[in-house]
Order: sequence, then structure tokens, then C-alpha cells
Amino acid sequence: MEQNFFPEHKYITRAYIFIIFMMTLTGFGQMPIFKRYYIADIPGLGWLAEFYLTHYIHYIGAILLFAIFAYCTAGYFLVGRHTFRLTGPAYVRIILLSAITLTGIFRVLKNLPDMVFSPNFTMFIDISHMVFVMIFLLAAAVFLFMKTGWLMPK
Ligand code: HEM
Repeated sequence: MEQNFFPEHKYITRAYIFIIFMMTLTGFGQMPIFKRYYIADIPGLGWLAEFYLTHYIHYIGAILLFAIFAYCTAGYFLVGRHTFRLTGPAYVRIILLSAITLTGIFRVLKNLPDMVFSPNFTMFIDISHMVFVMIFLLAAAVFLFMKTGWLMPK
């Protein structure tokens, strides 16, 4: 298990992985693929075809992700950075998660009734959220395979 300065990092890691899993599932739930490919017909998975349900779970997941980001960032700058430094893969994850979050925020703004973006900007935001998600998931799989964590003792 990766060395860490958070006594409770085991629970934070599990919560983070669960939230990323749910964000991916509900994110793809925003597109009608689960119904189209009969995945939502599997008993217990019908909710994946409920647009508004997956939509609101995606929003709640985003809020929980912000909370984990804020907690870990504060913990690292207040405590961790004295004994640990971030690994290269950690910077890659941070950059990709920041890009996903920024494009996600713009997608939320786009959904607000009186917020109007140009068609090109809307398409750019939609596609870039998706592209950053795919790069992030690929990178996460590679780092998991290489067993590279976020922190390295100084
Ligand atoms: C790692 C975290 C995340 C993953 C894996 C993820 C994944 C996705 C995916 C696959 C889609 C569907 C893309 C499409 O319709 O083209 C989506 C849509 C969306 N995501 Fe995310 N997302 C993440 C984080 C966020 C965050 C942090 C926010 C908000 C701040 C956000 C807000 C949205 C919104 C508003 C939509 C569009 C929903 C609609 O169709 O109106 N996402 N996300």
C-alpha cells in the first residue's frame, strides 16, 4: 500500500475510486447508450436509462469529488509536503482531473436556463469533457498497472 501522510487515506482512496466509477457510469448514462445496447434491461440496471437520475447523481458525484480534492489539497500543503513529494503520474492525474472539472463546470453552466454559449463553444466543451475523461481513464489504467501512486517520500 502506498505510503501516505493521511491516517485515513485508505478510506479516502476507496471513496475516490467509487466516485470516479460512479461519475464514469452516470456520465455515460447522459448518453442514451445503456438503453440502446440493452444494458439498462439487465435486472437492477434499469436506473442507468433514467436521464435525470444519472444526471443528478453525476452532479452529486461532482460535489463529492470537489470535497475530496479540497481535503487532499489542504492536507498536502499543510502537512504532507514536508515529508512527501508528488510523483510524475500524480501531476498527470491532477492536470486531467482539473481539465475534466473545468469542462464539467462549463457543461453545468451550459445547462442553466439563461446561460447561452455559441454552438461552437458548446460543442468544444462537450467534446473536450469526453476526451479528457477518456484520456484520464486510460492514464489511470496505465498507472494502476504500473502501480505508481501519488506520493513519494522526500
Ligand atoms: C472524473 C470525473 C468525471 C467523469 C468520468 C465524467 C464523465 C462524463 C461523461 C462520460 C459525460 C457524457 C459526455 C457527453 O454527453 O458527451 C459527462 C457529462 C457531463 N458531465 Fe461529467 N464527468 C466527470 C466529472 C464531472 C464534473 C466534476 C462535473 C461538474 C462540475 C461534470 C459535469 C458534467 C455535465 C454537466 C455533463 C453533461 C450532462 C448533460 O448531458 O447535460 N462532470 N461526464
